[in-house]
Amino acid sequence: MELNRHWWKECVFYQIYPRSFQDSNGDGMGDLRGIINRVDHLVELGIGAIWLGPVFKSPNDDMGYDIADYRDIMEQFGTMADWEELRDKLHANGIKILVDLVVNHTSDEHPWFVEARKSRDNAYHDYYIWRPGRDGREPNNWASFFTPSAWEYNEATDEYYLHLFSKKQPDLNWHNPAVREEVYDLMSWWLDKGADGFRMDVINLLCKTDGLPDASGPVDMNGYVFPTEHMCDRPPIHEYLQEMAKRVYADKDIFTVGECIALTTEEGCRYTAGKKHEIDAVFSFAHIDMDGQPLGKWYYRPWKLPELKSRLFEWQHALKDGWLGLFWSNQDQPRALSRFGTTGKYRFRCAKMLGIILHNLRGTPFVYQGEELGMVNVPWTSTDQLRDVESLNFVANCRRTGAGDEFMWDAVHRKARDNARTPMPWDDSPNGGFTTGEPWIMLNPDYPQVNVAAAKRDPNSVFYFYKKLIELRKGNLIMPYGEPTLLLPEDEQVFAYEKRLDGEHWLIAGNFSDEAVERPLSCLVPGSELILSNVSEKLEADGVLRLQPWEGVIIRLSE
Ligand code: GLC
Repeated sequence: MELNRHWWKECVFYQIYPRSFQDSNGDGMGDLRGIINRVDHLVELGIGAIWLGPVFKSPNDDMGYDIADYRDIMEQFGTMADWEELRDKLHANGIKILVDLVVNHTSDEHPWFVEARKSRDNAYHDYYIWRPGRDGREPNNWASFFTPSAWEYNEATDEYYLHLFSKKQPDLNWHNPAVREEVYDLMSWWLDKGADGFRMDVINLLCKTDGLPDASGPVDMNGYVFPTEHMCDRPPIHEYLQEMAKRVYADKDIFTVGECIALTTEEGCRYTAGKKHEIDAVFSFAHIDMDGQPLGKWYYRPWKLPELKSRLFEWQHALKDGWLGLFWSNQDQPRALSRFGTTGKYRFRCAKMLGIILHNLRGTPFVYQGEELGMVNVPWTSTDQLRDVESLNFVANCRRTGAGDEFMWDAVHRKARDNARTPMPWDDSPNGGFTTGEPWIMLNPDYPQVNVAAAKRDPNSVFYFYKKLIELRKGNLIMPYGEPTLLLPEDEQVFAYEKRLDGEHWLIAGNFSDEAVERPLSCLVPGSELILSNVSEKLEADGVLRLQPWEGVIIRLSE
């Protein structure tokens, strides 16, 4: 079988949220020097590459996803020399580095926008998306991710500009060839600097439906409509990404992974299939969106295990010629244990089981910082503790529309992005060794127990289990490349699948419940061998799968 091997399929990535990883100068905010000082943690874990969140100059309306200068480092995070030192230290340890490419929008403080908003005939005006108002209001009914309307009025030109995110994140006009040139230039600039690829922020939103018509979905609490059908995968997005690949990286051994909102499997294939025509991999949100409703993530929708399995496996089957970034969480999501697993007695066991299930799917696993410790959501008690523009806007919307505290708190505890943005707890000293100053956001109050030092003292910790799982991938091509087949699709407690590659045949299984379970499984024939479990030390291979509560296993099946 032709494997189409690549370094980025065979290693595990680790996502660093720079603001919350390690502070080195006591200002309460993580920085590049802090990351440099913690490279040992990454080396010990055995990861092969990092995705470094945005570290560019930014007024931080959206924590660095609002960029004011793509070629300069945010002051609070350090200097370009620090970035270079980090790059060198990572490379010296065989770790590659992905730059976060945020080019659907810039900051409103980017010099392009500062110019663009001055007058309609400014040379930069057409870098952004402008429309006149309609009946004294916004040009259309689009909702933004972070504010009620996706439009903001600009007095100097008597027009509105489009911002799918906050009003300090104006959307770039990708139809303007000058904009595309600017982006290709800055990408090449980072590759020349030694970046090994890009994580591409909301890359499938670059083009919007021509004419920007009203959206037709459900109306939200503010009277606007989320424009999924007019912003996702709109033409000519594929042509633009092909142009980008050709101009910037088609001939380079780098890795590109695109964050894609509301992505269909057909579009996912178009972006990733083929030899670097567009991008290498996509992050699909099929499993993430499962617990939200059409009105958005804040509206919780209960789910059962068969749905999680089918959402993940739809992608496992569809993306045969393309590639997936696999993840349980990131800086925009709640902690995986709080969302997909359990946070009680079996918390750490469950963390290991979730690792087993994810790392054996076809794709490249991304570990989000703190996942290797078994971190969970935060028991927020006051909205003053929140820092994220999305959450603060949601809170304001709830208060304005009288949505009620119970609904608001349930949503914040379940979904607020700040749940995953609390500082890395390194030890049990004040502020978890993250900072000697006042942290920019509170630590998870369980840090005296759940921290890196404690994990490293405990041979049974999630940390050492992740290390084993990551190590296992190195000798086993079946993990990235094997063909997965879902077993027991309707089972509400057991997530099980087989993988095959050449003569190799594995069974991966996890128990998503507090009860011990037994399931007849004919593939579990005598001679099968337990490779890894978070509970059991031996296997009875007699045609019955036995799993303790939240146990996960990897078994080599005898043919
Ligand atoms: C992506 C980022 C998120 C950011 C948004 C706007 O979804 O992951 O953190 O707020 O894009 O750039």
